[in-house]
Amino acid sequence: MRRLPWMLACLTAAGWLSTLPPAWGLESSSDRSTIPFHTILELEQTARLLAILLDSGRAVVNDNQTVLDDPTKAHKGFTPEAFEGQLRDMFRGRAGINLNELDGSALSPRSRRLLQELVSVSKQVIADAQAELNRQGAGFKGFIPAVFGARVSTRFTAVTGVRLKQTALDPRNPANRPDSYERVALEAFADSAYPREKVISEMAANSSSLRLMFPLYATRQCLDCHGGPKGGLDRTGYPREGLTLGQNAGAISVLLPVGK
Ligand code: HEC
Repeated sequence: MRRLPWMLACLTAAGWLSTLPPAWGLESSSDRSTIPFHTILELEQTARLLAILLDSGRAVVNDNQTVLDDPTKAHKGFTPEAFEGQLRDMFRGRAGINLNELDGSALSPRSRRLLQELVSVSKQVIADAQAELNRQGAGFKGFIPAVFGARVSTRFTAVTGVRLKQTALDPRNPANRPDSYERVALEAFADSAYPREKVISEMAANSSSLRLMFPLYATRQCLDCHGGPKGGLDRTGYPREGLTLGQNAGAISVLLPVGK
């Protein structure tokens, strides 16, 4: 991945840019002249890191699901600080970036600012959920990765103008239904031969924003709800999708306006 900018620079110099796959969205020659190539790469990296950070938060919630749903415990200890520690570890493991050392990193100022904002919004969502999570005697409270992700996304968009969305080909929540761009990417992800975690991205036709799709995969905990038997109800009351371990489970869609 680190070699990619260099490779692409060579392709550009050699005039091969038009042979890049449409995922790069560079088909239209007018777009090519308006946005510098390094800006497109920077936008893509930012969008990808935001998707990984949102998914890391989802995964931390998923890891704590059993504790959160324990009816015998009042205080779960899932404080915003505890969450943040796990989030930073998860993100460092997955993206190789230490959120505590963003200032010394090679990331763009925009990337740093948006990542910090996403951490802060994610913590706020956990802080605001404390009463709900610590309710004594209650078992399943409906605080699941998708609910966390939706709350974070709504707030993040309100603060930054960057859109984050969880989507799947056949979503449980109609609000998560894919648009035509998202559908094409989800269909590619659904192919079992598709390379793991390979994102799909493109510049919007008017060059105003970059769109990116980051694939999600079913872990053992996801299968509690999204696994088999297909059609049987899970504990949230939805029919199970019948997914198997490691299968694509949808995607995080990012829409990053160029000026944000
Ligand atoms: C406790 C049950 C439960 C678990 C565990 C769970 N999900 Fe979900 N998932 C749901 C429910 C319920 C929704 C719909 C939420 C809503 O109403 O927005 C959902 C929504 C989603 C969506 C958005 C598309 C849609 O169907 O609306 C994706 C993507 C998704 N889940 C993936 C995962 C992945 C990946 C994991 C594991 C990391 C996971 N889920 C774990 C119950 C669960």
